[in-house]
Order: sequence, then C-alpha cells, then structure tokens
Amino acid sequence: MTEFAIRTEGLRKVYRTGFLRRQYVALDGLDLQVPKGEVFGFIGPNGAGKTTTQKLLMGLNFPTAGQAWILGRPLGDRSVMGRVGFLPERPYFYDYLTATEFLHFYGQLHGIPKRVREERIDALLPLVHMERARHVQLRKFSKGMLQRVGIAQSLINEPELVVLDEPASGLDPMGRLLIRDIIRGLKSKGVTVFLSSHVLSDLEEVCDRVGILVGGVLQEVGSIEELLGQTMRSVEVILHGLPEDPEGLPLAPSRRDATGHHVFEAPDHDTARTLVAAAGAIGGQLVTYRPVRETLEQYFMDEATSVERQAREESVR
Ligand SMILES: Nc1ncnc2c1ncn2[C@@H]1O[C@H](COP(=O)(O)OP(=O)(O)O)[C@@H](O)[C@H]1O
Ligand SMILES: [Mg+2]
Repeated sequence: MTEFAIRTEGLRKVYRTGFLRRQYVALDGLDLQVPKGEVFGFIGPNGAGKTTTQKLLMGLNFPTAGQAWILGRPLGDRSVMGRVGFLPERPYFYDYLTATEFLHFYGQLHGIPKRVREERIDALLPLVHMERARHVQLRKFSKGMLQRVGIAQSLINEPELVVLDEPASGLDPMGRLLIRDIIRGLKSKGVTVFLSSHVLSDLEEVCDRVGILVGGVLQEVGSIEELLGQTMRSVEVILHGLPEDPEGLPLAPSRRDATGHHVFEAPDHDTARTLVAAAGAIGGQLVTYRPVRETLEQYFMDEATSVERQAREESVR
C-alpha cells in the first residue's frame, strides 16, 4: 500500500474580505496525494492559492471544508509537526540574531539537545553556503541569504516532509541551482518535498510530479513531460567574466550576446551543470540558467492567465 506524506480531500478555503465581507474562494476542493519520498511541485501564477494550501497543511490556517492528512495524521495533530519542516513565504526573522543563533532558536523549539543542534548547524550552514555568515546578524542579510538561512531552518529537525513556499524566490541563478541540489539531496535520503513556485523552470529539474494550480483549482497533475507532452530542447547557460576564448570547458559557446556575455546551449542539465562548475574555475559567473522550452512556457502562461481570468470573473459574480 502506498503511504502518503500528504493527502487532501476536497480541501477548500474561502476568505471573507473587505468591508462587504465578500467571499473569495482561494482554494476550491483540492484532492491531492503525495506519496512518501516524492518531490512534488506546485506551480501556478501569483494568487493561485499555493501559499493558502501550504498554510492549511501546516495548520497555520483552517480549512473552510475538506480534510487532509500529514504523514498519516489529520490536520491539527501537532504531534506530527516535529517530523515536518516548513519554509514560509515571508519567513519571520529575528533581526538581531546571528544565523547560528537563529538556527539554535528553531532547534530549541523542536526540543533538540544543544550538542545535536550544534552538529546539525555545522552541517546545514555549508549546505546552504552560509558558513561565512554564521556570526552575522540577520538584519544585514540580503533577500537571498535570508532565503537560504530559512531553508536551513526548515531542515533543523531532520524532517521526513519538507514544505517549501517558493524556495527559489529572491535567489540569483546560482542560488536557484543550489536549491535544486539541496532538494535532490533530500530526495536521495528519502525525504518528501512539497515545494511551490510560479516559475516552471524552478521545478522541472527536481520534481517527480507537478500540479498546476490556477485560480484555486488544481488543473492537472503529472510529470512535466506528461503535462507538456514535449521534452526539453536544451539548457541555455549565459556566463559573464569568461576570457575571450575560454578553454577547458565541456562545451564551446554558441555566441556572444549584446553585452559580451558568452551564451552556451547545453544538450542537458548534466552538461549544463558541468559547464557552470568548469566555468566557475576560470572566473565565469552564471547570469542565466534556463531550460529551453519557450513555446511551451508561453503556452503554459497563456493557459494559466485565461483560466485565472475566468475564475476571477466567476468569483465576483
Ligand atoms: N488572509 C487572506 N484574506 C483574504 N484573501 C486572502 C488571504 N490570503 C490570501 N488571500 C487571497 O487568496 C488568493 C490566493 O493567495 P495565495 O494562496 O497567497 O496564492 P499564491 O501563493 O499562489 O500566490 C489570492 O487572491 C489572495 O489575495
Ligand atoms: Mg504564495
């Protein structure tokens, strides 16, 4: 029997907003099953209901109707929260804590003994490339640094299930690759990951399956290939700071763009990643990392906006 990390039945959330207390359906009858060990991506435009869903699952918000189970336990069962990690959309950070103190604080909330916390923090800071900032106060962090320390926070209790609300938001291309590496690492340890994004390319390389959420309605669920019916053509990698004729790279640049950056068309993600690493060694900095699927991304966005518009119109009727 498949064990599910997340299971929802008819999960629904209606907000009442404004002076007239108008009803707004943010999530409309979500039926979802995420088996243990899966990396599941929630893709949808802003306002689709991704954050609403994740908050419901984390018990931070109450459903208007429907049911859900986290690691087999019904919503509201706090005992399961020790086995779950969560990166909220707008993490609340304590400005005057250092990265290390912040992680200790969350570790303490989970009741993790000091020794163990220290060991985990020593492992987590390098994982998110933050070891050099370990004694820096959070108020001095950039958005990307906060995001990365937030991800470390979500892993402090070595969770079986991690829920990440737009983990790639605010990160530069290198940071986005880092997130994908972290997620792959979690998957290899059997951790279930439920993440969201409004950018398809953030999800496609790491997710076993994705669900498309538009206007509070789950449109489709499947692998990217199943949903889009077409495989990726190539990965476009744009690098800055390379010598005129770079040597020692697994691939020759296909052209220089208007700003003089080297543009590469890698046939797949593995080649693209090897390229980024090799280029880094000779001073190249990543500017863009983009799977080429243009027509489909466009199609997806068109599809999403039209459904969205329809849903909005219905909700105001
Ligand atoms: N507390 C709230 N009160 C009223 N409306 C809300 C509230 N939270 C979210 N919404 C609305 O619900 C919809 C879904 O929001 P959200 O779940 O944040 O979407 P996403 O994360 O996909 O961008 C949006 O239109 C948003 O404005
Ligand atoms: Mg959101």
